[in-house]
Amino acid sequence: MRIAHISDLHAFELKGAALWQFLGKRSLGLLNMWRKRAAGHPLHILDALCRDLNRVSVDHIVATGDLTNLSLPSELARARKALDSLRLGPREISVIPGNHDVYAWDAYLRRSFETHLAPYCAGDDLPSEPPHFPYVRVRGPVAIIGCSTALPSPPPLADGWLGTPQLKAIGQALDAQKGRFRILLIHHPPLPQSLDLLRALRDRRALQKILRKLGCELILHGHEHRDVRSALPGPTGDIPVIGVGSATYSDPRPDRAARYNIYTVIENGPARFEFRVEQRVYSPAQGEFAQGAAPQHGT
Ligand SMILES: [Fe+2]
Ligand SMILES: [Fe+2]
Repeated sequence: MRIAHISDLHAFELKGAALWQFLGKRSLGLLNMWRKRAAGHPLHILDALCRDLNRVSVDHIVATGDLTNLSLPSELARARKALDSLRLGPREISVIPGNHDVYAWDAYLRRSFETHLAPYCAGDDLPSEPPHFPYVRVRGPVAIIGCSTALPSPPPLADGWLGTPQLKAIGQALDAQKGRFRILLIHHPPLPQSLDLLRALRDRRALQKILRKLGCELILHGHEHRDVRSALPGPTGDIPVIGVGSATYSDPRPDRAARYNIYTVIENGPARFEFRVEQRVYSPAQGEFAQGAAPQHGT
């Protein structure tokens, strides 16, 4: 089974946004974007990403958050339009939110992310209900557990929080899906000393404790906008933790250019798995993605 991992699209779209939506934190975010981010994630790279995802051979796509910049309905609609243009349907595309997808309280309270992207984060158990996190999707030998660390926080914070109910449900899902290749999707990296305090996952130690007991075959995250490969201790060995750079970032530096990963999961017998990683990188000269070198992961 081949799974594409995209992250941090930061789709920017102001068309249709109302003035009141910029009262508060969004006005600061907009200023910040005009300074650096709007040019950093141009929509033509998002379009090239969609073309490439429709070209490569993958069975599933996961998106680990920050699909938008300011959690505006217009941005969520733009992200939805991009997902709707993909060959694979919503059952084969699993998304979770990042901190930018609940940037403002109105988006959080109205559950804008879940409303706009419902088919892409619907669990197997209650597909017609409004999505809730964590969701579980079983696809062949793979079980995808998608959680949300996204909460609005005052500037300059960009931290994340799972909370007790979600931690408990993640533990139950990991336990129930033992024997499958369990992939945990999480926007903020759950690493011991990840990021600075302003951008970290607050309750990462509680999640690490659950993972140490119940294990997991692969943890995928975003948020850092760079390739990161690390590991967390599990009951029978290390659990690989992989963060991928932004899939839409415009940067001439080869290690920062827009990219995404493809994982090939190979089943070697009952509950015995391995996986390979390859990377697709955006070429500004070609205006398209192409096979990249093996990811150069920092730690
Ligand atoms: Fe991001
Ligand atoms: Fe983020």
